[in-house]
Amino acid sequence: MSNIPVFLPYFTDEEMDIAREALELRWLGPGSYVKEFEQKLADFIGIAPWQVVAVNTGTSAVHLGLELCSVGAGDEVITPSFNNISDIQMIRALGAQPVFCDVKEDTLTIDPDKFEDLITEKTKAIICIDYGCALSDFDAVKKIADRHSVPVLYDAAHSFGSSYDGKKIGSFGDVVTFSFDPVKNITCIDGGAVIVRDEDQGQRLRHMRLLGQEQNQAVLDQNQRGWRYDVTGPGYRYHLANLHGAIGIQQMNKIDDIYANRQRMFDTYDRALEGIDGIVKPVKNAADIMPFIYVIRVLGGQREAFMAYLAENGVDTGIHWQPNHGFTLFKDCRRGDLSVTDMIGDQIVTLPSYPELQDDQVEFIAQVIKNFFKQKAAA
Ligand SMILES: Cc1ncc(COP(=O)(O)O)c(C=O)c1O
Repeated sequence: MSNIPVFLPYFTDEEMDIAREALELRWLGPGSYVKEFEQKLADFIGIAPWQVVAVNTGTSAVHLGLELCSVGAGDEVITPSFNNISDIQMIRALGAQPVFCDVKEDTLTIDPDKFEDLITEKTKAIICIDYGCALSDFDAVKKIADRHSVPVLYDAAHSFGSSYDGKKIGSFGDVVTFSFDPVKNITCIDGGAVIVRDEDQGQRLRHMRLLGQEQNQAVLDQNQRGWRYDVTGPGYRYHLANLHGAIGIQQMNKIDDIYANRQRMFDTYDRALEGIDGIVKPVKNAADIMPFIYVIRVLGGQREAFMAYLAENGVDTGIHWQPNHGFTLFKDCRRGDLSVTDMIGDQIVTLPSYPELQDDQVEFIAQVIKNFFKQKAAA
């Protein structure tokens, strides 16, 4: 029997049906499904459709978001070192330098008390990300950033479907990015979105995602394209494919179901892992969070043995993430205190996290974890 995987995309007949429909349409580029997906995202978040620009990955979304912040060669961008490699590579792709900040020990999100000292006249943006089942202190980050007139790029790859102070993630912040990659709260196979508040920025993004071509969006939305256009700015091939938009539509149709299952997953883990010495459970720091990955911390330098034991006993686990200042390419991006990042970087373990994970599977995983510590104690 194969192990319980870390991730499993939640596909049912609806995704299969719409994928067939989208393929039979034989319009594979950006088109009507993408437009409908953007409309669904806008309705769900409670914003205007022009504010949502769907792209092919969350990485592209971050790249375009950094462009909107005017990040370029020689600039600096402050980001947690404890972040997905994609953000760091996109900073670098623009010729800018990542400057690594530490995270808070409870939420593992950027520590607002530690990044102000990192701001210099070269700082062009601050990346604030949510993590796992926790939201960042966005307001605190924004307040400090505003004091220095530095824009905040809010990378909400982990928190689609959650709310902060009663406001849906995506409904506040100047530039917000989402990822809909294979393992995220909803998936388009691969996809992402940039959310903006300024109409000109929305227009710019629509052109940038299509190689800078100033196409008429209304024409593209009808599965057609124009053969005459101007190009006045940079561009990339970052549009979302129609097929992927179609999958996104069906994921949005069952968003309540996904939400309920992810809540159930979190609550069951939370109960089943109660009172185990040697681990720290994740926090869910708001009432309305759609739990993403369930990441525990394994204490006492036992992480590798823990992961090996779980794998031998039927449970796959993951690591999100290795801190970026440990990578050869980014060694020189460390500036301030990263003591929390250094500590948790060797402790974090992602347990299986997906909507179809059953309660009895979570109980089983918890039992395997208890057995690990029992045999350690007996050794
Ligand atoms: C915080 C964060 N930002 C950006 C990305 C990149 O998204 P994608 O995988 O869709 O390119 C990820 C992916 O896991 C992520 O976790």
